[in-house]
Amino acid sequence: MIFIVGGSSLIGYALAAKFSQSSVKYYSSSRSIRSSYVYFDLSSHLDYDLIFPSDVTTVVLCAGLTSFSSCSSDPSLSYNVNVTSIKRLISYLIGRGIYIIFLSSNAVFEASLAFSHEDAPRHPVSIYAYQKCLVENYLISSTYSYYSIIRLGKVISRSTPLISQWSSSLASCKQIKAFSNIYTSPISLDFALEVICRVIFLKPSAAVFNSTASHDISFYFLALHLCNYLNLNFKNVVQSISDQSYIPTCNSLSCSNLSLLDLYSPDPSNCFS
Ligand SMILES: NC(=O)c1ccc[n+]([C@@H]2O[C@H](COP(=O)([O-])OP(=O)(O)OC[C@H]3O[C@@H](n4cnc5c(N)ncnc54)[C@H](OP(=O)(O)O)[C@@H]3O)[C@@H](O)[C@H]2O)c1
Repeated sequence: MIFIVGGSSLIGYALAAKFSQSSVKYYSSSRSIRSSYVYFDLSSHLDYDLIFPSDVTTVVLCAGLTSFSSCSSDPSLSYNVNVTSIKRLISYLIGRGIYIIFLSSNAVFEASLAFSHEDAPRHPVSIYAYQKCLVENYLISSTYSYYSIIRLGKVISRSTPLISQWSSSLASCKQIKAFSNIYTSPISLDFALEVICRVIFLKPSAAVFNSTASHDISFYFLALHLCNYLNLNFKNVVQSISDQSYIPTCNSLSCSNLSLLDLYSPDPSNCFS
């Protein structure tokens, strides 16, 4: 049985929906008290034996403070949730011999060379990425090998706030501004789910999967791809320049380990499909 920690997250919710369609049995947790979820707040000291039934064989870790701004605006809270609590949970799961899938981010290579491979040195800059690195280190340095780390690029879905704002403005023929000097390496939500499902199926040992698009595109080009996908007029997309002081140089990674899953980095234009 699979247990999704953070079942209301963008990825966790979609994963649960995919499992439901294919009759895969799963549990899903949230801090919400809705009956469809197992109640679980990472930062409270709950009895894990009451949360994780004895038939759980795989846990997908989707929960946490996931925006760069929420991590940097309250570093101590985000450290408690994203590092201390996740490490405590991982230590419990290791004791139970459960397969662990940790969703990390391409941001751990923020200041690295482009197309860093899975084993390359990581250089996080943001607090979010630094916290991801600390959990990666915890897994990698343990003697336990029954886990995978999946480093996702920006996951795009129609409900991604920026994409839904752009879509509704473009649909009502309003102009949108998109940065031409900030880059991303987007993958579709479907692609992220496919990577996770194949890892669940294969359960590779101590594996790390970089999972980004094949190359970077600017947010301006992302907006043009969205117009193309929605069959809307390109003329409402206006280029703008960000004056952000730090612009990450490395979004697209070398994703050679994806071949172990029979997958490869998708073209960024496929991120809406
Ligand atoms: N989406 C992306 O583009 C992307 C890219 C790279 C990596 N990732 C990683 O993939 C994972 C899933 O991302 P996502 O975008 O799907 O997440 P998300 O939509 O931002 O959701 C995060 C979830 O964490 C849960 N959460 C927050 N604090 C919690 C706490 N104290 N205890 C328990 N649950 C808590 C919240 O659920 P409740 O409020 O219901 O408890 C929320 O639904 C994250 O680890 C993220 O860092 C995502």
